Amino acid sequence: MSHKIHIFDTTLRDGEQVPGCQLSTEEKITIARELELLGVDIIEAGFPISSPGDFLSVIGISRAVKEPVVCGLTRARQEDIDVAAEALRYAKRGRIHTGIGSSDVHIKHKFRSTREQVLEQGVWAVKYAKSKGFEVEFYAEDAGRADLAFLAQMIEAVIRAGADVVNIPDTTGYCLPHLYGKRIQYLFENVSNIHKATVSVHCHNDLGLATANTIAGLINGARQAEVTINGIGERAGNTSLEEVVMILKKHQDLDMYTHIKTERLHGISKLVSKMMRMPVQPNKAIVGANAFAHSSGIHQDGFLKHAENYEIINPAEVGVPGSSIVLTARSGRAALKHRLEQLGYKIPGTELDAVYENFLIMADEKKEITDSDLEALAANIPVLMR
Ligand code: KIV
Ligand code: ZN
Repeated sequence: MSHKIHIFDTTLRDGEQVPGCQLSTEEKITIARELELLGVDIIEAGFPISSPGDFLSVIGISRAVKEPVVCGLTRARQEDIDVAAEALRYAKRGRIHTGIGSSDVHIKHKFRSTREQVLEQGVWAVKYAKSKGFEVEFYAEDAGRADLAFLAQMIEAVIRAGADVVNIPDTTGYCLPHLYGKRIQYLFENVSNIHKATVSVHCHNDLGLATANTIAGLINGARQAEVTINGIGERAGNTSLEEVVMILKKHQDLDMYTHIKTERLHGISKLVSKMMRMPVQPNKAIVGANAFAHSSGIHQDGFLKHAENYEIINPAEVGVPGSSIVLTARSGRAALKHRLEQLGYKIPGTELDAVYENFLIMADEKKEITDSDLEALAANIPVLMR
């Protein structure tokens, strides 16, 4: 049986916490509408008690979108939950995301508390949030470093208290994929009521493992993935939405699917990057400027013979207009011929070597050869005709 994976987008909460990426309410509503069109299941719209702006944004998003669940973050505190409930009052389906630290390091050095006390506070917060009439998701902050037996005890207690979703965050991006996967497996094997809740994975990218950890969590039974567009987020970022979605789409053998309209991925990536003033690194998977650009001679030749030689994703599937052949001093004859032909030139077979030699001289001087460079090159070679 194929499993639906719920995509919980936190671009507007965990993503927006990045310095310099703050958005106005209007901008957040614009992105939320695009997230709805993209097909996400849950939008984490903000942390309502954190500022009046966040409070108003959660209200605005609750009014603006109809399909996705709208979620507001809280600490395990009464005033946070009251404010979140107030902000979510217009949501067609609202969710309060409450929680507390679960690792000893957080319990001791952040909360200056004990395991017993944080567990009690977490259970209280879930019951209080539930009493407001919303769906409730509980996060066990820093679950990636928590003592497993205690984590299981905490998760069992909050599900008993009414949590609909239990989030197991690798808050510090510490875990290795097989060990994060084992954590999720352990919870399925040791929490007696685990099947009464949806298990969610929320990973950070401090060691570059956020996507791998998320996939490991899903393989081990989690059914919700918490992600951001372009992987934007605190420090090294969160798990990238586009990577998780495309991994599940390309690996049908995993038997999981999402409702994401993948052809909208490129557009929303550009929108978020522009509004948050956060450029996407060129080699970023799926949405980076070079994700479908071929520049070395061997690759270009193989790609031109058959695109699947070097592409596992058709660019149209993710909304990219097309692949590109970048001409540099590493390019080969096949790419040069292809590009000249695209510009309308006919190259007599015997002349390609000579044209290529001229091209290399030019390419050694410049980083990239543009169409106008090729026009200039062609103008000096009489055998090239249009
Ligand atoms: O990384 C984290 O633990 C979080 C929680 C607040 C869900 O963002
Ligand atoms: Zn986080």
